[in-house]
Amino acid sequence: MGGRRAGTFATISPITITILFVPNLWTLLLRGSLRWAELQCFFHKRPNMVDLLVKLYDIPDPSETLAALAAHGIVVRRAMANEKTQVADWIRNRFGDRWAAECEAAFARQPIACFIALYKTQMVGFACHDATCANFFGPIGIDPVSRHKGVGRALLLATLQSMHHGGYAYAIVGSAGPEEFFEKCAGAIAIPGSTPGIYPSTTIKRQ
Ligand SMILES: CC(C)(COP(=O)(O)OP(=O)(O)OC[C@H]1O[C@@H](n2cnc3c(N)ncnc32)[C@H](O)[C@@H]1OP(=O)(O)O)[C@@H](O)C(=O)NCCC(=O)NCCS
Repeated sequence: MGGRRAGTFATISPITITILFVPNLWTLLLRGSLRWAELQCFFHKRPNMVDLLVKLYDIPDPSETLAALAAHGIVVRRAMANEKTQVADWIRNRFGDRWAAECEAAFARQPIACFIALYKTQMVGFACHDATCANFFGPIGIDPVSRHKGVGRALLLATLQSMHHGGYAYAIVGSAGPEEFFEKCAGAIAIPGSTPGIYPSTTIKRQ
């Protein structure tokens, strides 16, 4: 018996052993492919993306959504200055350098124009405003495993409410991602003729 078992193990290749016994490998592969797919989707879709307009004086009150999340241990709040590096790194790892840079621009404002969602001590999402242009909402991003739980809606509404309290009547979602999300949650409408929008057609490649 012992000899047979030893023989079985001898036929397992080093690659199989690595796959089975390096638990983080699957997570890394999954995260890498998700990020790659998102970036592909983001950049390929950009030529057709429109800017959206949101009536800030007519958005739903976020308190119900925030309370529902809080009951599940998810807190949405304005980010603190001393969290800048952690927040930007979290964004960079999931959504790339450009969104991390926009987030850093939001941190340069006072009050800080970035909201985060936390489950216990772990970030699960973020949203910024006045990062790319004055009066612009975005970017917004939720960790892939935390999507479709209302976190995006809560972050969107909390951030839009902050813009309204800051004095804006309308907000612009620049080069909006899934339009339906913004339409459903905040009644956003497309701005005619806003494609390709303010982003330059020439972009800097990482060197
Ligand atoms: C878009 C995104 C922020 C949505 O976050 P989320 O936490 O999954 O959204 P919620 O669970 O709060 O969904 C709220 C509503 O929007 C809808 N919705 C969410 N994502 C959607 C999508 N991709 N397409 C259409 N509708 C969507 C939900 O079905 C829900 O509607 P319901 O109340 O009728 O059920 C998230 O998918 C994400 O981070 N995507 C990648 C980054 C991105 O594209 N950001 C936008 C760039 S401007």
